[in-house]
Amino acid sequence: MDSIYGNHRPVMEAEMQRLLEDVERIRQKLTEKNGMDPVEHVLSRIKSEESMREKCRRKQLPETTESALFRIHDGIGIRIVCSFVSDVYSFCEEIRKLDHLTVMEEKDYIRHAKPNGYRSFHMIVKLSCGYFAEIQVRTISMDTWAALEHHMKYKKQIGGNHSLIAEELKRCADELASTDISMQTLRDMIVSGVNENEDSAC
Ligand code: GTP
Ligand code: MG
Repeated sequence: MDSIYGNHRPVMEAEMQRLLEDVERIRQKLTEKNGMDPVEHVLSRIKSEESMREKCRRKQLPETTESALFRIHDGIGIRIVCSFVSDVYSFCEEIRKLDHLTVMEEKDYIRHAKPNGYRSFHMIVKLSCGYFAEIQVRTISMDTWAALEHHMKYKKQIGGNHSLIAEELKRCADELASTDISMQTLRDMIVSGVNENEDSAC
């Protein structure tokens, strides 16, 4: 079977690399500005053929290259995992400034968590070449939770008390969010302590 991406895949890969280079530049800029690397790790992927076809079917779109490139917007996906919540927002701010893309949509699942407890900041961007990409920016805690929840989703058929599991997962998400706030407060205290020391040294 032909690729749903037609002959676009190599160009998509190149555009994704370009986006990753931007991410690296933002990372360096914020590291210089704050004296601390905001990023824990970065992942990227072109959505697999099977997932793209499945998503077309789910959205009742024809399984065509046109759907894959222009009607579904997460063929290219980048995930940036940051240390602190403030880093997530600083990173998004820098992404908005990039001049070869336009932000089409933002979803702040940090301020407005999903009912199941999912948290992350999502951006759909349109690259100047015409392709779309989904950029997810989240903290390590949010990423850990999402990985576990994703894993559980595929184990559903195994059985067990689903509502209890869902309730516990939600509780874990809220506890992690509260830990993220405490970690942010600690970081702010450390940073302002460093600044105070620097001031008194002058
Ligand atoms: P799609 O049709 O799937 O694009 O739905 P949507 O446009 O409402 O997407 P949304 O921005 O909510 O989510 C897009 C991506 O975020 C998913 O493909 C996942 O990678 C991630 N995501 C969203 N919700 C969840 C969740 O509840 N759990 C986990 N583990 N990941 C999620
Ligand atoms: Mg989406």
